[in-house]
Amino acid sequence: MRTEDPVYWDPQLNVYCLTRYEDVQLILRDPRFSAERVDYYISGVPALLRQKLKRYDEFISHWMVLADPPRHTRLRSLVARAFTPQVVEGLRPLVQRVADEMIDAASARGRMDLIGDLAYPLPGVVIGRLLRISPADTERLKGWSDALFRLLGAPVPDEETIEIGHQGVVGFEEFLRDLIAERRAHPGDDVLSRLLLAEEQGSMLSDAELISTCALLLASGHETTTHLIGNGALALINNPDQMQMLREDPRLIDRAVEEILRYSGVGYQSSRRAREDVEIRGVRIEAGQIAFGFLLAANRDPDRFPDPERMDILRKDTRHVGFGGGIHFCLGAQLARVQAQVVLNTIVQRLPDLAIAEPRLEWIPSFLVRGLRALPVTFSA
Ligand code: HEM
Repeated sequence: MRTEDPVYWDPQLNVYCLTRYEDVQLILRDPRFSAERVDYYISGVPALLRQKLKRYDEFISHWMVLADPPRHTRLRSLVARAFTPQVVEGLRPLVQRVADEMIDAASARGRMDLIGDLAYPLPGVVIGRLLRISPADTERLKGWSDALFRLLGAPVPDEETIEIGHQGVVGFEEFLRDLIAERRAHPGDDVLSRLLLAEEQGSMLSDAELISTCALLLASGHETTTHLIGNGALALINNPDQMQMLREDPRLIDRAVEEILRYSGVGYQSSRRAREDVEIRGVRIEAGQIAFGFLLAANRDPDRFPDPERMDILRKDTRHVGFGGGIHFCLGAQLARVQAQVVLNTIVQRLPDLAIAEPRLEWIPSFLVRGLRALPVTFSA
């Protein structure tokens, strides 16, 4: 597609599929494209089922990722105030401790599932700490996050997926309403308390926005990070020369993680709606139509990256679109980086002779995230 039909119209999805780096950057940055696209998600749903989707739609309509300025600017700056780089960097020791504990638990066996035993539970612990939520509650939140994403990631949602998404919203709303009441009464040093404070200083976040934003942070912080770690471990195992380089010089980890985001990233696509007619490479995208920017295809565009199919952690220019671009550039990018850097370095240093234990790996069927269901590995105990 990228070579032959880079602005491809898909009649089944009713969207344009953009696969070149330059074009993907364009739709992410050009104000002629809007991020307001909640209604796209319900366009294929039969009328009978739409009623059930109403609460879900209302819920995600507060997400900054689906908002344009000035609504986006306000939401993002409020959250950015609570979710600072210092807060994220301060989590490094916690990530290291949790990763070590999880590896300790498996190390004598000489075998573990890098997803189920490590990459899946770890981001939940981290985000739970950020919001000061107990591990038992984090587990429940993880279930609701998965439910929200499952509906968002379904090309055409069926009745069961809609029901699951609905239950995710109900779960989040009930849980977070109580938690907000508790934090109002007893504020602490956590992101939720800080969000409440930001609200009280005059830059108001309504309760609905607050609940929805917390759910966005939880939902977007979990699964994506799991799969960055999983895809990174797989890429390193499949490229033993790169793994060896990292083993010999752990300081290369920052560059390695950027290259993993480029070479074997997580987010398939970011979508936008054209506000007006826009012509790209001779194709007219009409006002109102949806364009998908395929991030992974863009990240391997040979017009942008030399030798793009090769993993090269020493690559000089890794300005990928794995975290999107423009005003919606991932707000959690640094949090994801910190976790991937710590965990991948720990795996590489602590698990010698790392090898994949199952010949067939299964990828999750999703339109949003690219990741493995499980990554069973063996290593020298
Ligand atoms: C490997 C991990 C991650 C990947 C690949 C990823 C990817 C992305 C991408 C591609 C976007 C842009 C969406 C768009 O333009 O439509 C985005 C936005 C966002 N991400 Fe992430 N993300 C990751 C981790 C996280 C984490 C850990 C958090 C928070 C805890 C987070 C929170 C957000 C938020 C709030 C936005 C919306 C920003 C805005 O609209 O201004 N992400 N992410």
